[in-house]
Amino acid sequence: MLGLKLLTDPRWANIAESNLEEILTDHAWCEQKAAANALYLISNNSEHIEFIQKMAEIAIEEMEHFNMVVEIIKQRGYSLGRERKDDYVSELMKFARKNGSRNTSFIDRLLFAAMIEARSCERFRVLYQNIQDKELAKFYYDLMVSEATHYTTFLNFARKYATDVDVDKRWAEWLDFEGQLIQSYGKSGAVHG
Ligand SMILES: [Fe+2]
Ligand SMILES: [Fe+2]
Repeated sequence: MLGLKLLTDPRWANIAESNLEEILTDHAWCEQKAAANALYLISNNSEHIEFIQKMAEIAIEEMEHFNMVVEIIKQRGYSLGRERKDDYVSELMKFARKNGSRNTSFIDRLLFAAMIEARSCERFRVLYQNIQDKELAKFYYDLMVSEATHYTTFLNFARKYATDVDVDKRWAEWLDFEGQLIQSYGKSGAVHG
């Protein structure tokens, strides 16, 4: 699925479902961080007008996702906890190229975003296919579709602007790295846990 090297064990969905307040809190903040990432990309890449318009759309969509999760939290009488750390994303960030040309870093930042969208999409798929809660299963199905679109958007922009990077080769490196990294996860009830 989406080129991912390792698929999540479906039993992870049971861990997530055993503490819905926690997974929903973590999920809400994932959406907020996805919006923040789109805003960051806008502020640093003003020369790509088509790109920043798309990032503005994505930032809005991610905040709509955030609000949908918060609404579910509210309806169920849960609390939105504090922002959670995301070690998985921190590890991916370390892998992103920060030296080299400005464009090289930009392309890698797009691949970083595509990677997170791909894994989030896969995790939402595992949730929708395995959780007992019907309302949430439908919710996660819809989000899976949306994050798959974001994944494609980031990867396509990487290809479009890659003047000095072999995107297919670099994307293969990302998939290999992520496939190793994710082996340490899948044991806690967080979107990337
Ligand atoms: Fe989202
Ligand atoms: Fe997304």
